[in-house]
Amino acid sequence: MGKVHLEDVDAKELKTEFSLVKVKGTWKRKQGKKVNKETADCVSAAKIYESITEQGASWTVVSPIVFTYKVTETQNLLNPSNNTLLLGHITDPQQLEEIKHSNKPIKRFVVIDQEVYKIYGPKLTEYLEANNVLYKILALPTTEENKSMKMALKILEEVNNFSIDRRTDPIIAIGGGVCLDVVGLAASLYRRRTPYIRVPTTLLSYIDASVGAKTGVNFANCKNKLGAYIPPAAAFLDLSFIQTVPRRHISNGLAEMLKMALMKHKGLFELLETHGRVLLDTKFQADNSGYGSNCLQVASQATRIAIITMLEELSPNLWEDDLNRLVDFGHIISPALEMKVLPSLLHGEAVNIDMSYMVYVSKESGLLTEDDKQRIISCMVSMELPVWHEACTMELIQKALQERLKHSGGLVRMPLPVGLGEAEISNDTSCEILHRAYTKWCDELNVSCDSNCDS
Ligand SMILES: NC(=O)c1ccc[n+]([C@@H]2O[C@H](COP(=O)([O-])OP(=O)(O)OC[C@H]3O[C@@H](n4cnc5c(N)ncnc54)[C@H](O)[C@@H]3O)[C@@H](O)[C@H]2O)c1
Ligand SMILES: [Zn+2]
Repeated sequence: MGKVHLEDVDAKELKTEFSLVKVKGTWKRKQGKKVNKETADCVSAAKIYESITEQGASWTVVSPIVFTYKVTETQNLLNPSNNTLLLGHITDPQQLEEIKHSNKPIKRFVVIDQEVYKIYGPKLTEYLEANNVLYKILALPTTEENKSMKMALKILEEVNNFSIDRRTDPIIAIGGGVCLDVVGLAASLYRRRTPYIRVPTTLLSYIDASVGAKTGVNFANCKNKLGAYIPPAAAFLDLSFIQTVPRRHISNGLAEMLKMALMKHKGLFELLETHGRVLLDTKFQADNSGYGSNCLQVASQATRIAIITMLEELSPNLWEDDLNRLVDFGHIISPALEMKVLPSLLHGEAVNIDMSYMVYVSKESGLLTEDDKQRIISCMVSMELPVWHEACTMELIQKALQERLKHSGGLVRMPLPVGLGEAEISNDTSCEILHRAYTKWCDELNVSCDSNCDS
């Protein structure tokens, strides 16, 4: 009987669509899709859908939110004559002119990785002084172990003391992925959303953390468990910062580049296969040690392809609503592995170990030839990336896959390379294949790892 009654109520539901128009300074609802634009100051893209039933009214708000952010390559970012750091995020030409001609000094709060500050602190100070900026520089030990809410709150306290205007004074983050992630989260929380700017200083953050919308800190022993999908106003990329990055951290960034190569771009794979080692040796800088003059050109080409392929995958899926994501390659088992052995493996190293195992899964699934598999592993080794780890046990793999099932709508959604530079998402890789791949992976790579260590 109850069911009959409900259907009865539904039948009496009255639904109305309203547009929103601004007339003489106030927003008004206007019924229907068609709005007379001549009588309105402005028509919003938002809609209100009203539903009236005998039980009451219900309103559904559809408010499209557009995020606009710039990822900009620049040279000599800290040269006082380069105004990118201070003004490069402004997209409105009129606003830009007004600021350029205003007498009011620019105000900026800068958070910088402590190690980066040791190297670039004097240049940064000189830059801000020369541009007459009212500034506060906060240098922090933004390490993976410190990537926590405590650090985000520390930043927020200092931001609050300095007092900034969220409409005009974006917070600047300068450092590796940890610094950019923590500052991004703090900015997203301050006054509900304060714009921020990313200046990546490691290779990994240059091609990965700078490009997307994600911010975060570690929580409850899980990577990036607290965070927000709020992109920066802009990311400014200056390759010259990479010259002081320790060699191991260059390899670390190369792993994320290789991820994009294997998933989407054979040309990038071939670049890394041929020049990966040189890029590692020259730290993505112009060469002065006999490698030939095209070093910087290769560096620029490789970073650009990595960034563009990443943007292609991220921009239509900024909030990761689509769970089938190629960028998750290497990120299925690695979060658990990375946290388990912290701090012994860097993020990109853990990612590489995950990718290396998945390459074996692909081979055993018939998606990769033995030759392609060997090429990929050799490329990883040439870039000095770990391809195997004793803590990556079958038990850890199974646990990670179960965890993935829980958070991915009941499907494992495992990106797997198909040949070189293409991929598919697999949901039905059998336990047998996972085990067989694991045994081969250990047999072949544990041995080669030992012999590498001996030599
Ligand atoms: N938001 C995202 O989309 C995204 C994407 C990928 C990775 N991440 C996050 O990024 C983090 C890893 O980033 P990372 O590899 O840059 O690590 P990191 O921030 O820890 O930096 C690595 C090390 O390099 C030092 N360093 C940084 N720049 C330097 C420079 N120019 N010269 C000398 N030393 C320098 C730092 O002090 C640090 O010791 C992880 O926490 C990961 O979760 C985020
Ligand atoms: Zn990653």
